[in-house]
Amino acid sequence: MSKNGLPIVTSAIRIRSRSMTRERPGDRPMLVAAGQRRISIRKPSKVPRKRPPPNPTRMPAEFAPSPNIAQLRPSATIAVSTRAKALKAQGRQIIDLGVGEPDFDTPDFIKAAAARAVASGQTKYTATEGILPLREAIASMAAARWTGAVAEAPVAADVVVSGGSKQTLFNACFCLFGEGDEVLIPTPAWTSYVEIVALSKATPVAVMGDPARSFLVTISDLDAAATPRTKGIMLNSPSNPTGATYDRDALRDIIAYCTAKGWWILSDEIYHRIAFETSAATSLELTRDRSNLIVIDGVAKSYAMTGWRIGWAIAPRAVAKAMTDLQSHTTSNASTPSQYAALAALTERDAAEESITAMVRAFRARRDAVIALLSDDGAPPYIHPTGAFYFFLDVSAISNGGDDAGTVFAATMLEEHGVAIVPGTAFGTPGWVRLSYAAAEADVLEAMRRIISAYRAMIAVPV
Ligand SMILES: Cc1ncc(COP(=O)(O)O)c(C=O)c1O
Repeated sequence: MSKNGLPIVTSAIRIRSRSMTRERPGDRPMLVAAGQRRISIRKPSKVPRKRPPPNPTRMPAEFAPSPNIAQLRPSATIAVSTRAKALKAQGRQIIDLGVGEPDFDTPDFIKAAAARAVASGQTKYTATEGILPLREAIASMAAARWTGAVAEAPVAADVVVSGGSKQTLFNACFCLFGEGDEVLIPTPAWTSYVEIVALSKATPVAVMGDPARSFLVTISDLDAAATPRTKGIMLNSPSNPTGATYDRDALRDIIAYCTAKGWWILSDEIYHRIAFETSAATSLELTRDRSNLIVIDGVAKSYAMTGWRIGWAIAPRAVAKAMTDLQSHTTSNASTPSQYAALAALTERDAAEESITAMVRAFRARRDAVIALLSDDGAPPYIHPTGAFYFFLDVSAISNGGDDAGTVFAATMLEEHGVAIVPGTAFGTPGWVRLSYAAAEADVLEAMRRIISAYRAMIAVPV
């Protein structure tokens, strides 16, 4: 090993010389170590070459997306909010129910902790996987939920902190899946799952739930979608976009089934504190074997901290190590002041519980007020939300919707009625739309009245 930890080139590496391989002059020699990656090296030329004079007629290179991103679709939720912002900039009054972010401010005790951290010089790199006290706090909350053997309870070494749970999901998929693998995605699903799985070169497989069961999938749905290539599943409860939540028994059975199949379970529990009827079950309470389980969580939603970008995984040790190694070559550690803010959120429990309780109470009041409007005759059918802060409405009955009624309806709402909502196609269900009620209650109710009246008008239009 060299001083910086890189392997020193030894005889195990073949240097293909031009005379051996008949490469053309100018080709780059390749270093190929057995079982290692190819590295192209360029030998320094003996005579320094003169730079060619600038060519004033040279056209800028045309961008063609690399195969890595050729299939990538931009986030539909972000696209809606970009269009809403553009209309606002033109002076239009828009009620934006597109974005999935609490309208509450980050609690003051969390901001104060971040300010203290910055003032005391916590502004440098940290360990890639995150500061130890934060990982300990995450592990101890996770261990409190764990019902398996004490020796297997999560510890700090199983935790990796990243720049938001979106990065955590990316790291996990990139480390666990690859070409030829299939990953089951109960659908409708949060818009980024499909893209993240595809970026890891695996095949996303949508497992459509039944709207009559709030789109929650069953073991027989999963069984019907499984093939020998299935390598993992993305679970999300409470769900974005439906707000539906698996009950304890259903989630326990699904986890047991996936474990028996030998699949990786990525359990995205980012909304688990935002639950209205009973507390939302979490995977660590429901299994005694976490050797295939990656729990994904973060502070964005429960602590109104979307902009601080802190998420984490609780994973089997080897997976946590691989995710850390990957992150060490991409973003390194999550923002240092944000890690201290998250530490306050997770350790100053009385203050944290007080703000979570107040926020969830407000979401529940809004949810109930929307349900009251939706119970009117002629309102669109919807999924009863028991968690998160979304309504998922079925607009497939509108008469001019074609095979993507959700997009037609969302476009009409934005352009003609000044309400931004997200078409269901972003979540794999074209006949639906999602709205977030993480906005001022008066705005949510006004938007809902407009949605219901537009829906009534659109189903009444003759074909
Ligand atoms: C289901 C789900 N998982 C993950 C995320 C990403 O959250 P973060 O802000 O922590 O990256 C979101 C954000 O909307 C989400 O809805």
